Amino acid sequence: INTVVFETSFSASKAVAKEIAELIRLKQTQNQLCILGLATGSSPKGLYAELVRLHREENLSFKNVIAFNLDEYYPMEPDSVNSYVRFMKAQLFDHVDILPEHYHIPDGTLEKDEIAEYCKLYEENIENYGGLDLQILGIGGNGHIGFNESGSLQNSKTRLVALDHVTRVAASGDFSGLSNTPRTAITLGVKKIMEAKRVILMAWGEGKSAIIKKSVEGEISNKVPATFLQDHNNATFVLDQGSASVLT
Ligand code: F6R
Repeated sequence: INTVVFETSFSASKAVAKEIAELIRLKQTQNQLCILGLATGSSPKGLYAELVRLHREENLSFKNVIAFNLDEYYPMEPDSVNSYVRFMKAQLFDHVDILPEHYHIPDGTLEKDEIAEYCKLYEENIENYGGLDLQILGIGGNGHIGFNESGSLQNSKTRLVALDHVTRVAASGDFSGLSNTPRTAITLGVKKIMEAKRVILMAWGEGKSAIIKKSVEGEISNKVPATFLQDHNNATFVLDQGSASVLT
């Protein structure tokens, strides 16, 4: 695993945006689509802001971008304040020229008995594009990637999962209380994340320092799904001073 430490999350986010912009532009010169795996949460906000700036000020086009988001709460209406559809539109999609039919976010409105088939098609859709060129990740305080919580297997598929108590507590502020916080979510499985050609995990602040240390230096274990990335041949943890502060 590579770790890169920046002075601030701002400079780190700019560097990640630069890498993504270069990939999108390279694919454009090759007349190819660029298949991105995207995350929500606070960690990628600066990245998305910088991508929007690059679109507005430096002509970066998203016309050749196909995006697959990692996860969505279940159940969740797309226009609800806490939906990841709404988040992605507000942070990125509504401000760049990506085609609406080119972005995919797991559907929180399905009937329970539709989910398994939907998840299978979500993965097939990614495979039909030749897999993810680049996957952006954040990390939960418990080491989850996407909503692959502790106990998720390295070959786990896209599926409905139960959220850990700590994950729900972390989200409860957004939902004005734990009792309103969803108990389940649909997440891309670890396997598809691991199959991405390039993985960039972003983490900011001292609050993430302990889990970053475990993920980078600890033994690979499904207790901390982010440790699986130690087995990936092109994964980088992009950190700031705070999140890197207890690394050896
Ligand atoms: C979000 C996701 C989660 C978050 C993680 C960190 O799509 O998959 O794994 O990346 O919970 O969240 P933040 O960035 O809010 O600390």
